Order: sequence, then structure tokens, then C-alpha cells
Amino acid sequence: MTSPTERHETARALMKKFPALPSLSNSATRLLSAMSARRVTTTTLAQIIERDVALTANVHKVANSPFYGQSRSIATIERALVLLGVDVIRNIALASSVSRVFRGGRLTPEFHIGTLWRHSLAVATLTEAMAKKLASDQHENAFIAGLLHDVGFLVELNLWPVEFVALVRELDQQSIRPHDLLQIEVDRFGASHDDFGRVLLDQWLLPSHLCDAAAAHHRMESDAGDRTLAALVLLADQLSASIGAPLLIDATSDASRYAALAVLGIDWSTLEEMATNLRPQIDSLSGYLDA
Ligand SMILES: [Fe+2]
Ligand SMILES: [Fe+2]
Repeated sequence: MTSPTERHETARALMKKFPALPSLSNSATRLLSAMSARRVTTTTLAQIIERDVALTANVHKVANSPFYGQSRSIATIERALVLLGVDVIRNIALASSVSRVFRGGRLTPEFHIGTLWRHSLAVATLTEAMAKKLASDQHENAFIAGLLHDVGFLVELNLWPVEFVALVRELDQQSIRPHDLLQIEVDRFGASHDDFGRVLLDQWLLPSHLCDAAAAHHRMESDAGDRTLAALVLLADQLSASIGAPLLIDATSDASRYAALAVLGIDWSTLEEMATNLRPQIDSLSGYLDA
């Protein structure tokens, strides 16, 4: 069996051959680097958002959506920050700026890339809510870690579009099982989406805890770096099925679920109850931020 380090090196070597990898927008890069440097302040956040017209429009759209229940329309980013708080606006801005990477339209009669986007938003919201509930010191990183956990699928779609669509079709038609996905990806592409995702996030210069969480979101391995964030993302990924945002093409494993529950010291039924309450928030975000 290959070690995580060997798998990452294989994914890195494969990706090196292709110059056309997905890239982040300038505003997403600025937001992420502000987050990694320190806690994002109101002023920094407002400046980053206002430099990007499309991002500003999207933040207004979501902040004025019925979910946030403001009786009067929110006219400026500063006002949105005061009324809804830095965390909420930061997440809307992150989701909006990252959504541009999730383009690709309908890949098969059953699968649209928007399904992957909705799943990513659900996992981001769930990861952050769990981090807050468990009083984890990871709650600042949780939303973005969830949002980017499956970005490795976009690497596969960019590098091997024909083969990736064929794989999605076979999963749709249940001729292969999600349970076997990681091995099938290795057989066909040379590495799996968790390892491709890890390498892409590293190439985007994101902090190592985000790369490690993407790498470990289907398997809790002892050398997977920060296991708390990885366990949160892994469980949020599995919980997405119970709130109607599953990614039917994604891998599953009961063993990894139990390992992650043990890392966090929590039971599955408590998490399921929490997830059900978050559904309106997830529906609101994905309704206003189409990829
Ligand atoms: Fe995945
Ligand atoms: Fe996933």
C-alpha cells in the first residue's frame, strides 16, 4: 500500500504535465491570503469585496435574501458587515469568489457540475457549524476547507474530460460503486481526487491545514496533518447525504466515519440532528450563488 506522501508525489508529477489547471480569481486569492495572515477585519473584507464588481453584487444579493430576514434592503457592504457580521459576509464572499472555478455545465444526462457546487456549499456550511458546536479552534478555516474538499474532481475534469465523464456515467448507472471510487480513480488517472485536490490547493499557495483536510477527507490517516479539520470535513461530507446534498459520485467508507467520530469524540445522531437544522441556510446560499 502506498503512503499519503507517495500518493501526493504521484498526483503532483501527473499534474505537472498539464499547464491548464483550474485557477482562483484575484478576489478569492486576496480573501484567502487575508484569512491566512490574521483574522479578517471588517475594513479588509470590505476593501476586498468592493474591488470586485461581480463579487459585490453577489454579496448584496445573498445579504438581501429572505433567509437573512432583514426588513430593509442592505445598501452597502459596510452595512451588511454591521448587520450580518464578519463571518457571514466572509463566507458569502468566499463562496461567491470560489464558485467561478466550478464551471463545466452538464456532464451526463444525470450529472451537472452545479451538483458538485451545491454539495461543496453544503459541506462548507456543515463543517463550519460542526466546528463551532465542538468549540474547535478550526472554525475560522472550516468553511473554506469544506468548500474546497472535492476540488480534485475539477482537476480530473480539466485533465481527462472524456474519461472523467465516462466515470461519472458509470457511477450514475451504478455499474461501479462509490465505495470503490478511490481505487478506480488511481487505476484510470494515476491518482484520486483527494490527492489531486491536495496538490491543487498547494499550488494555489493555500495553508497546509487546508491541503491536509482535502487530502484526508475520505481516509483518516495517521500522517494526514491536522486530523481535527480533516475529521470535520470528512463527517460533513458524509452528512451532506442526510440533508439532500449528497454527491452520488463521491467515495464512501464507514470505517473512515468511525475514525473521524473518534477523533472528535461525538456521535453520529447528534451530528445528523444538527445538519437537519442547517438545510434552510444551505438552500439559501446555493439558490443565490449558482456556479
Ligand atoms: Fe470526495
Ligand atoms: Fe464530497
